[in-house]
Amino acid sequence: MTEADLQSHRTDVAAELRADVRTGLTAAQKWLPPKWFYDAEGSELFEKITAVPEYYPTRSERAVLADRAGEVAGLTGAHTLVELGSGSSEKTRLLLDALTAHGTLEAFVPMDVSESALAAAAAAISAEYPALDVRGVVGDFTRDLRLLPGTAPRVVAFLGGTIGNFLPTERAGFLRSVREVLAEGEWLLLGTDLVKDSATLERAYDDAAGVTAAFNRNVLRVINAQLGADFDPDTFDHVAHWDAGHEWIEMRLRARRATTVRIPGADLVVEFAEGEHIRTEVSAKFRREGITAELAAAGFAVQRWWTDSQHRFGVSLARSVRA
Ligand code: AVJ
Repeated sequence: MTEADLQSHRTDVAAELRADVRTGLTAAQKWLPPKWFYDAEGSELFEKITAVPEYYPTRSERAVLADRAGEVAGLTGAHTLVELGSGSSEKTRLLLDALTAHGTLEAFVPMDVSESALAAAAAAISAEYPALDVRGVVGDFTRDLRLLPGTAPRVVAFLGGTIGNFLPTERAGFLRSVREVLAEGEWLLLGTDLVKDSATLERAYDDAAGVTAAFNRNVLRVINAQLGADFDPDTFDHVAHWDAGHEWIEMRLRARRATTVRIPGADLVVEFAEGEHIRTEVSAKFRREGITAELAAAGFAVQRWWTDSQHRFGVSLARSVRA
């Protein structure tokens, strides 16, 4: 088996977590960035979420890619496939198969903050596609996009609806930063979960088996392990709330009773009133016109728009144009 090449942009992870915890947990409305869910345990819990019956996005997106990967290959003739937030790269195999069959693909560049998930995925893909140059990049795609390896034309795939984790202004900045690393004529393949009834959405983020609740609480375990904190995760209820005004799902951890948490690694003591919550994630949902306009504003022209048969999830194939 071939060793996959892993390149790391990781700085001091503990220092970064400390800064985020200090900012987020001293704010009037407490919050934490969702990227801290994804230690080895959290990445595994997310994989389990993708298999619970209520969490439709993964299956819906997979159905779109299964239908359309051949068209992606034909339209783009990609030499390099870059995948941002690749996780286990499971759906990516559909793209790799189509691009390999098309005969143009040379390199696969998965990028993820989770080194464990990335190393496993990169090794598995190198073994399955021996002719492919697999170059994993451990990094934060909000920061480490410059110097993406691989020859043009490249397709940058950002799947799963992860773009929904950005707040709108961050999202605009992120799309611009992707556009900036691409030459004119290169491609973005973007997965977006779509606005739908609130019951379906809230169930998808609060499954009956409690996997999403465990995933949400995992961020407290990460802070305990990394910063020596004494969060009792069971003191916090998992909440999934559809915010119809912003059109996003908000995940929260709500203190069941008043509690004090010590976080020595961040030099912090945090008080929670009963019912007070930490916002741990927003997951925005999209409409075709909205995301097409956002892409245009960032310098991308949508060439194809596909959804699954139930119109739950949308995939845009967009070409970078002169901005
Ligand atoms: C991996 C970011 C797309 O927002 O739906 C799943 C993460 N959070 N259940 C999402 C998640 C709760 C997921 N993304």
